[in-house]
Amino acid sequence: MTDRVCVVTGGNAGLGRAIVRALAQQEAHVVMVSRDKVRGETAVQELCQTNPKAHIDLVVADLSTVATTRQLAQKLLDCYPRIHVLINNAGVWPTRKEINADGLEQGFMVNHLAPFMLNQLLQDRLKASAPARIVNISAGLYVNGRVDLSKTPYGHDFHPMHTYASTKLCNVLCLPLEAARLAGSGVTINAIHPGVFNSQLGAMRGPLGWLMKLVKRSWPPPEQSAAAPVWLATAPELAATHGQYFNEKEAIPLAEVAQNAELAQQLWQLSTTLSQLTS
Ligand SMILES: NC(=O)c1ccc[n+]([C@@H]2O[C@H](COP(=O)([O-])OP(=O)(O)OC[C@H]3O[C@@H](n4cnc5c(N)ncnc54)[C@H](OP(=O)(O)O)[C@@H]3O)[C@@H](O)[C@H]2O)c1
Repeated sequence: MTDRVCVVTGGNAGLGRAIVRALAQQEAHVVMVSRDKVRGETAVQELCQTNPKAHIDLVVADLSTVATTRQLAQKLLDCYPRIHVLINNAGVWPTRKEINADGLEQGFMVNHLAPFMLNQLLQDRLKASAPARIVNISAGLYVNGRVDLSKTPYGHDFHPMHTYASTKLCNVLCLPLEAARLAGSGVTINAIHPGVFNSQLGAMRGPLGWLMKLVKRSWPPPEQSAAAPVWLATAPELAATHGQYFNEKEAIPLAEVAQNAELAQQLWQLSTTLSQLTS
């Protein structure tokens, strides 16, 4: 992976940070996207301390609105003439309803619309850098998602236990359409459930928060779960693997709930409109 440019969103913490570390160990030129400058700088500093040869840039960007996501894409296009790998890792488990300036629920924005936008806006740069790969970090919980396009994007059906799954389902629903558009372009796209691991995802205050923290202590660290996404992004034997959904290192079919072609088409259209892209 020497000098191959790999963009990792949400790279300052949890799984993203472990992915950045592993890619830097493979001598890639890693672009860590962090929404917080200090958290990002601290992470880069720590990773470079343990690996002085690491080549990690920090790009500060918030994926919580359409405008800031577009700004991130522009910044990446301005700074990197080649982009070989895009790992859409940033994610949230929204425990309370938050609506952004676009009128969109934050889980829908961060988990679905932001990666959807980055995939479209960086597509030509990825094609020009081919062979290139997009890896969407999914979550097996998508199977529990229920998407109502008149409600889910706007948080009208918000539920602290269900919205995460529904927004992750949105992203998986678009995978076959994204794969079809990229077919033959030299850019592959795949999605992966990395396994369950201990991170800040869904952290909350109060007794339930403490209970979850205790439960999560028995889960493996993110470093263990980074192995499969890094393999998907780098392994030579996966150069032609395209449009697949992986449960860790096993390619499995999408669940029936994610094979609703009509809903996927409608979601694609809506996502295009919401993100002010042209289809
Ligand atoms: N944890 C699990 O067991 C599990 C299981 C399956 C899938 N996943 C998926 O793995 C991915 C990583 O999650 P994690 O568990 O590592 O969670 P995490 O520790 O909370 O890390 C999430 C990362 O996303 C960033 N992020 C959140 N909102 C953002 C925004 N608006 N703009 C830019 N960055 C934002 C976070 O930034 P801050 O540090 O600033 O908050 C952080 O860097 C997610 O897509 C998640 O759905 C996790």
